[in-house]
Amino acid sequence: MLIKRPPDIRPSEITPEQRYLDRRQFMRSAGAAGTGLLLGAGTAAGAADIPAKYRRLGDVRPSPLSTAETPNSFEDITRYNNFYEFGTGKDDPAKNSAAFRPKPWQVTVDGEVEQAGTFDYDDIVGPHPLEERIYRLRCVEAWSMVVPWVGFSLGDLIKRLKPTSRAKYVAFETIVRKEEMPGQRSRVLRWPYVEGLTMAEAMHPLTILAVGVYGVELPNQNGAPLRLVVPWKYGFKSIKSIVRISFSESQPRTTWNASAPGEYGFYANVNPAVDHPRWSQKRERVIGAGLFAGKKPTLLFNGYADQVAQLYSGLDLTRNF
Ligand code: MTE
Repeated sequence: MLIKRPPDIRPSEITPEQRYLDRRQFMRSAGAAGTGLLLGAGTAAGAADIPAKYRRLGDVRPSPLSTAETPNSFEDITRYNNFYEFGTGKDDPAKNSAAFRPKPWQVTVDGEVEQAGTFDYDDIVGPHPLEERIYRLRCVEAWSMVVPWVGFSLGDLIKRLKPTSRAKYVAFETIVRKEEMPGQRSRVLRWPYVEGLTMAEAMHPLTILAVGVYGVELPNQNGAPLRLVVPWKYGFKSIKSIVRISFSESQPRTTWNASAPGEYGFYANVNPAVDHPRWSQKRERVIGAGLFAGKKPTLLFNGYADQVAQLYSGLDLTRNF
């Protein structure tokens, strides 16, 4: 994001026309077959591409908060990534993350919260029903894709953790493991990667912690075993491989804001009216749509203005970008 100028299309990003048409046809057949109540097998489209090594998640329910848009293929979602801990190239996370061990996993909860402590993954995730949430992920680099996440409401977890009345923000931290994350041996960013939300943003029903994609556990390159997804914000807010959740009274430091404050704000709401200083945010390149598909207009709050605009009433979105 800091070092590359988007959007250069590489040959590896171009979906062969036939594959694109096949996928469209597959979606139509899947739609015609009707949808079951439980999605344990993952959303139909692209599911055929999923390597057997990924464990299938049981009892995944479809969510009414999903977009009706066609998801990108499993291949698009797992081979075109931003995860600087594994390198800055889009294909680096897929290439360099095989040695990463996402289990066993623990998450530390601290700060302004009653239930502070260090919890096993199962204690954090286990009590929550899993849902499939299909969201468009709009990257600040002016590209987007549609991802069928599997996850649960962050707000439900926060209610169980019982923040104190002083908690105004929630901060998240990614694991540091230089032996397994070769990108952390470089100083391209300051590690650990950190992100934050206001309490109202964290409690919003659209905000989830994701544990899977396409009905299977999260691949390492997508932030295994636990990552944030905030669909109305630029993708960099959706921090991966979370090991710490902290509640605070003051606004926490966030990685990209600290790295280039003039380019990346704390809020990072998707906003076509506020350009990045080095490129326009008015349109987005849709990954996997093919070379001739053109660009799609970017929507305010990534299309969720009706649901989230009230969180920012009275706030100047040009200054608070
Ligand atoms: N989280 C960490 N820890 N490190 C990162 O480099 N990149 C962010 C975000 N979360 C990043 C991260 C950016 S810029 C984007 S666009 C999304 O992850 C990409 O998520 P995806 O690779 O699953 O599509």
